Amino acid sequence: MAKNWDEAQQKEKVFWENIYVHKSKDINTYTPITTEASISFAQKTLARHKLCFQDICSKVVADIGCGPYGIILGIDNYFINNYDVKPKLIGVDPLMDFYTSDIGLLKQKDNIQLYNSQGEAIPIIDSSCDYVFCVNVIDHVENPAKCISELHRITKNGGVAGISLHIVTPLFSPFSSVLKYLDTNHPHHFTLSKISKLVSSYFDRIEVTYMAAMLEDQPEFAFNYIFKSSDKIRAIKRWSSTLILRTVYFNCHKN
Ligand SMILES: C[S@@+](CC[C@H](N)C(=O)[O-])C[C@H]1O[C@@H](n2cnc3c(N)ncnc32)[C@H](O)[C@@H]1O
Repeated sequence: MAKNWDEAQQKEKVFWENIYVHKSKDINTYTPITTEASISFAQKTLARHKLCFQDICSKVVADIGCGPYGIILGIDNYFINNYDVKPKLIGVDPLMDFYTSDIGLLKQKDNIQLYNSQGEAIPIIDSSCDYVFCVNVIDHVENPAKCISELHRITKNGGVAGISLHIVTPLFSPFSSVLKYLDTNHPHHFTLSKISKLVSSYFDRIEVTYMAAMLEDQPEFAFNYIFKSSDKIRAIKRWSSTLILRTVYFNCHKN
């Protein structure tokens, strides 16, 4: 598994480098995020967890595996002039040093603390966060159970951890254990029942708040993009992923 995680992390770094450092113009590659898009991404993520910006005013909000912007950038941009109610934001990612030095979207500030660290050993004290988000990360980590136990540890009593990740669609569930050999970006491929059981073993109550089809967030993975793309193999792989994966959003409550 460690080899898979290292390999997946290397791919993760190359993915972001292509967008922000090499500024690749390929039709299948994402474009750099704008201020408006960062706010929309944060708003959409909160809404899928049945939350809105008002809910997080003056709260402590952590984003574990935040990537180069996560929901932190959008929340910070949204509250930019609202000093009184700005949430305190915490970002954790094992690629944080690369994200801050080579990409430069996230910066340590009075209301933002950033850590180069894995979710399996979060350098934050127990029960210190009102909201802990972990967006599209649990299927990327080295040890999902350890990471979920850490999300639970840093969530305050009465707080919520919002966890979202790709899961395997029912049709492909029988093949979930072999998918990591085909889809090497994800070291883990959970079914809904397996991840629900794992998350429930740490939190007092969990609820599924949203389920998204891949095409809802990535319309460029659609079948017709195969014809437009210069990299047909990648476009076919991306289209296949729309059949195999979907995204689940959990609100995990700690009493
Ligand atoms: C698909 S990206 C998602 C980034 C961000 N959450 C977003 O939604 O834009 C997965 C992120 O998980 C991070 N990651 C991988 N292994 C991790 C671990 N063990 N602990 C915490 N984050 C991890 C990667 O470095 C990467 O930034």
